[in-house]
Amino acid sequence: MHQNLVCSQTQKSYDIHRLQNLSETGKPLLAKYDLNVLRQVFTPEVVRKRAIRSMWRFWEVLPVNGPDEAISLGEGCTPLLRCRQRGAFEDYSNLFIKDESFNPTGSFKARGMSAAITRAVALGAKVVALPSAGNAAGAATYYAAKAGIECFLFMPEDTPPANIIESVVGGAHVYLVNGLISDCGKLVKQGCERFGWFDLSTLKEPFRIEGKKTMGYELAFDLAEVDGSDSLKLPDVIFYPTGGGTGLIGMWKAFDEMEQLGWIGSERPRMVVVQAEGCSPVVKAFRDGADHADLFPNAQTVASGLRVPAAVGDFLMLNVLRESNGTAITVTDEDLLSGVHELATQQGIYACPEGGAVWRACQQLAADGWLSPEERIVLFNTGTGLKYNHLFPVGDLPRLDHTNPNCLDVLET
Ligand SMILES: Cc1ncc(COP(=O)(O)O)c(C=O)c1O
Repeated sequence: MHQNLVCSQTQKSYDIHRLQNLSETGKPLLAKYDLNVLRQVFTPEVVRKRAIRSMWRFWEVLPVNGPDEAISLGEGCTPLLRCRQRGAFEDYSNLFIKDESFNPTGSFKARGMSAAITRAVALGAKVVALPSAGNAAGAATYYAAKAGIECFLFMPEDTPPANIIESVVGGAHVYLVNGLISDCGKLVKQGCERFGWFDLSTLKEPFRIEGKKTMGYELAFDLAEVDGSDSLKLPDVIFYPTGGGTGLIGMWKAFDEMEQLGWIGSERPRMVVVQAEGCSPVVKAFRDGADHADLFPNAQTVASGLRVPAAVGDFLMLNVLRESNGTAITVTDEDLLSGVHELATQQGIYACPEGGAVWRACQQLAADGWLSPEERIVLFNTGTGLKYNHLFPVGDLPRLDHTNPNCLDVLET
């Protein structure tokens, strides 16, 4: 049902039946569908009745002719968890976490990779390559393995060990680079030109965003379910931890598509970009009223997914922020890590540092009066904390000698 690809800057059309990267002007290509035709057959009722337990329940607006064509590991259909009003969460009566840690390979990157590798393989790609902050590498590895193609990965050498190990175990060719993800991206570009690999860098190929947009579709169904209603709903505010911004731009695209399908009206959530203080190009550009973000110098943060000093979709993110009446905010590393602790101990969610960041950002904006804690707020926890165990040293734990009958005496106060 997909029709064509258009340049996000010039709107020029590109052939969807060929492997494509950026447009002639160096901008992302976006997939277009014939939504006027689709709206006759593709309805929320149809989706609800499907037995498909993955994001491919929305296959009509994904790059396949049917769900059986998908390279799938069961991505998507993640839970929307309502936060309990306790402790630091006491005032938030309508706070939800879309918990993307439930995805294969433990992060939302699975959605994008499922869509991108599905399409790349259908168009004949045998070898893919990408730069990654870690989670995209893990996801690419396992979708490439499922598809039976080769995968070359370029990651900063200080990428979380868990991401590196899972990629090696999954059979990818892993290269560690003494630089940032942007430096890795340059090597990928050179490698693609030299060795003929297909470049799967985010937003430099058109379908990772298609996978990630399904977070927007799902959210509308999740909230309808929360309300016990048939009509799809969007929240008042969405917090998104932003690196390359693919999920943010993707969800915005999903909302437009849903409106054209007649599924929702013209109301939109306020979108909030959350970045780390040590790497916040989009926040800076937003505050400066700029159309593009400058390369952020000396990018540094423990939230590796947020360590993206320059993004090809910067202008698209800034458009989303302005069109949605949203905002952009930074969080320090110390704060985002303590945010992880709070989510863990008060909500039972072991979030990635990026998830900790959005919770802290939400508290900051509530304290500033930008939002009211009674609003319907969705935080995206984009991945599992298990990949970041190295950030949480637990120190020396008490040891017990089980052969000593009095060993529990140490617990007496
Ligand atoms: C856990 C996590 N959250 C957020 C991001 C940023 O995602 P995006 O590139 O869609 O902005 C990443 C990217 O690596 C990530 O791994």
